[in-house]
Amino acid sequence: MARDRYPMPQSYQYDVLIIGSGAAGLSVALNLPEHLRVCVISKADITSGATLWAQGGIAAVLDDDDSTEAHIRDTLDAGAGLCHEDAVRFTVENGRKSINWLIESGVDFTKDEHEKARYHLTREGGHSHRRIIHAADATGHAVSTSLTSQAAQKDNIDLLSNRVAVDLITNSKLALPGNRCVGAYILNLEDNHVELFRARFTVIATGGASKAYRYTTNPDGASGDGIAMAWRAGCRVANMEFNQFHPTCLYHPHAKSFLITEAVRGEGGLLKLPDGSRFMDRFDSRGELAPRDIVARAIDHEMKRLGADHLYLDISHKPADFVRHHFPTIYEKCLAFGIDITRDPIPVVPAAHYTCGGIMTDNRARTDINQLYAVGEAAFTGLHGANRMASNSLLECLVYGRAAAADIARRESDILAPPSAPDWDESKVRDSDEDVVISHNWDELRHFMWDYVGIVRTTKRLQRAKHRVDLLSREISEFYSNYRVSNDLLELRNLVTVADLIICSALQRRESRGLHYTLDFPGVLHETEDTVLYPVNYRTPSS
Ligand code: FAD
Ligand code: SIN
Repeated sequence: MARDRYPMPQSYQYDVLIIGSGAAGLSVALNLPEHLRVCVISKADITSGATLWAQGGIAAVLDDDDSTEAHIRDTLDAGAGLCHEDAVRFTVENGRKSINWLIESGVDFTKDEHEKARYHLTREGGHSHRRIIHAADATGHAVSTSLTSQAAQKDNIDLLSNRVAVDLITNSKLALPGNRCVGAYILNLEDNHVELFRARFTVIATGGASKAYRYTTNPDGASGDGIAMAWRAGCRVANMEFNQFHPTCLYHPHAKSFLITEAVRGEGGLLKLPDGSRFMDRFDSRGELAPRDIVARAIDHEMKRLGADHLYLDISHKPADFVRHHFPTIYEKCLAFGIDITRDPIPVVPAAHYTCGGIMTDNRARTDINQLYAVGEAAFTGLHGANRMASNSLLECLVYGRAAAADIARRESDILAPPSAPDWDESKVRDSDEDVVISHNWDELRHFMWDYVGIVRTTKRLQRAKHRVDLLSREISEFYSNYRVSNDLLELRNLVTVADLIICSALQRRESRGLHYTLDFPGVLHETEDTVLYPVNYRTPSS
């Protein structure tokens, strides 16, 4: 695209700038007082992000036979000894309220076939009860479209698509005293210029980083931008070694990133080897409904043992009407690839799915920098421990999104307008004529992360990955200093940072726990703790 040499810089000022329009960002926006001017930005369409693609549902205690204590126990158990119990309790106790808020916001959850006054609850791995409320097998679509349409009707909320946050602006970057975030520089993809957004409060709701891996269930954009931006700005990140691999992603040469929900197993689907035999009972007494880390590792083990490039998930023994009713999206999608799931087993492989670690926050979603919040998959609240339990993620987005909004509402009258900040300086950079370098580096990064930092790790493989990420990091930083920014360059820069954080965290953990499994330290340590990484510019929030 042709650019003006020195365009008129644009700048904006809001009370609250929310970077990300998924379940987390919109939960914040919609729960803020309406006298606050709010801006929600998304780097693509407003509905882009993982939320739109969520299938299985949202976990919450909604059945009389279930209990808060049981949901807490299951979450702690799946988290393999690393969950923060206060965060788990806070999330679970606020579950029902959050679901009621979604229902009031217009989300049309599936009703029970037999008792129309009740919602149908499905089951997923690690849950001892049926507690997943869902909208058939397209829960994320129902949540995303309802919340987006609510936000679009609010006069105090501006929804801006095609805006990519480049970096946060802090007092220390402005050489001012205090440890405060005052907004962000944002690339407007419509005219390719970087704009200044100042805000009294800034919220990171940018989702996870699963695009660091070659095979992933995540849509484009999951490049860990918020985690990388917060790290550069001086926030601690924790537990980045715990990348969740979903056991069942559709295996087909033309199916990119299509998930087969865990609810298929919850409703009786069986995992099978190419000869049709079952194998999960050899790995865990809970069989197909063991927590995700166990199932993904079992599949990986069997694929390597047999030299198979995929295994199978079979629900064809259930009545065809039942299968079509519960899984209409998956039925249609697979049929388009010539697989009739009411008759055929579904070819599946594990794929990178969820980032359990992230920006460290407290139960109000506050980070290490004053007036900077982080919510959703970008945040580390302590809820998931070493392995997230299925359908606890959307719940976390809702609960912490609402908590962040409540905290901002409580404090906002004490927080002054942000100080002035300089416009983005483009005078010393030029247009890149070597975009091939970016795409090549993208591919290289995602390949070595898959091969060396995947489901089963070793110290040697991690060190190889560290060596490569250091080289890429130097190359990208030179590129960044000399050329105008683009979305691809920004995502690559962030992915390289996040990959480095993942590798460094994995090298620090000298045991195998939850999602981190290394052949060099196969045992579980008796005493363990979170892997907390400190940036060089770390300061405590009050300083
Ligand atoms: P997202 O929904 O990922 O939204 C991120 C937002 O940030 C987007 O608007 C994006 O454009 C924006 N953004 C990112 N970077 C920038 C930037 N630099 N500048 C501006 N904007 C930016 N969890 C469950 O609990 N239940 C499920 O059934 C379930 N199913 C899933 C199925 C799939 C296929 C996937 C991929 C995930 C699933 N998950 C599920 C996980 C869950 O969907 C996500 O963890 C959750 O939706 C994350 O929400 P979020 O708001 O944090 O981020
Ligand atoms: C799924 O439907 O299997 C995904 C659920 C989740 O990631 O929580």
